[in-house]
Amino acid sequence: MKRVLIVAAAVLLISGTGFAQGITGSGHDFSGIVAWNPGGEICQPCHTPHNAMDPSTYEPLWNHQVTAATFTLYGSSTLDATDLTQPAGASLLCLSCHDGTIALENFGGVTTGTNFITGNALLGTSLAEDHPVSFTYNAALVTLDPGLNATTAASGLGGTIAEDMLFADKMECASCHDVHDAAGEDFLLLKANTASALCLTCHNK
Ligand code: HEC
Ligand code: HEC
Ligand code: HEC
Ligand code: HEC
Repeated sequence: MKRVLIVAAAVLLISGTGFAQGITGSGHDFSGIVAWNPGGEICQPCHTPHNAMDPSTYEPLWNHQVTAATFTLYGSSTLDATDLTQPAGASLLCLSCHDGTIALENFGGVTTGTNFITGNALLGTSLAEDHPVSFTYNAALVTLDPGLNATTAASGLGGTIAEDMLFADKMECASCHDVHDAAGEDFLLLKANTASALCLTCHNK
């Protein structure tokens, strides 16, 4: 009995939250199981070691066709951010599958794919219903909106909000999500949203 308990405790320690950590087994594990990726490589639909797309525009080592859609942006009477733009940076890369206009298998120069994202993972080209992305979150915005925490506050991920969640001070999809699912959280979240812990990292409500 005692030994069983010790083994169970060891398994718990090793498995952490009990969820798999890393991209394997996550919603972004494209190995083998999906018909549109017969090569079965996980990274290749997004990255390539050689012949990547223009690195001055897309990073890092990007391999997937990028969306050219014009998006409807979020707007509200209480939004203080003043530089909300068309999705850019890493957000544009996410939307190159999640807006449903570019086929999933359009990578490595292929542009003729026929498998598009469906279901809840399809965001479409209207971002009016989605948390805003591609705008600056810095000390000036915190002054305008005291409901935000300073970006020098701890993120709970080891460093500050600016270090761990922002991209050159910008909010992007990857401010809340980890495309590689390092934490093994549901919905590829950067950190668990139990009791809205993710939201409360930035919002001082
Ligand atoms: C679904 C698309 C997707 C897949 C699959 C993917 N990545 Fe990424 N990766 C991205 C995006 C988007 C970024 C930039 C945004 C970011 O860093 O969060 C990135 C950033 C990176 C970076 C630089 C930043 C960092 O986290 O160190 C490395 C290195 C990387 N990926 C390696 C890999 C490897 C290796 C694989 C396969 C095991 C892989 N990626 C699978 C989309 C993907
Ligand atoms: C190469 C295409 C591709 C790119 C690029 C891509 N995704 Fe995905 N993503 C997918 C597919 C396919 C799924 C699985 C959809 C399904 O299960 O119906 C998925 C699933 C997800 C899920 C749901 C996972 C779950 O556990 O339910 C989230 C969240 C997500 N992606 C966020 C992102 C973010 C954020 C980025 C950019 C940083 C991104 N994706 C880039 C193709 C992509
Ligand atoms: C402010 C944080 C935040 C930002 C920014 C954000 N998301 Fe999410 N996303 C979440 C949370 C939390 C969930 C979990 C499900 C829910 O609460 O709707 C989620 C769920 C998802 C899902 C899964 C939907 C489902 O029901 O299966 C996808 C796909 C996704 N996000 C993609 C994106 C993309 C692409 C972007 C950028 C355009 C983005 N997210 C920006 C927080 C965010
Ligand atoms: C990485 C930081 C960060 C995280 C995490 C985050 N937000 Fe935000 N959120 C912001 C910033 C910055 C704004 C822009 C505020 C402004 O300009 O008024 C914003 C805007 C919003 C708005 C719109 C405010 C308005 O006045 O229109 C809502 C609502 C919101 N967030 C809810 C959430 C929820 C719910 C979550 C958790 C799922 C979340 N946020 C997670 C940083 C974040």
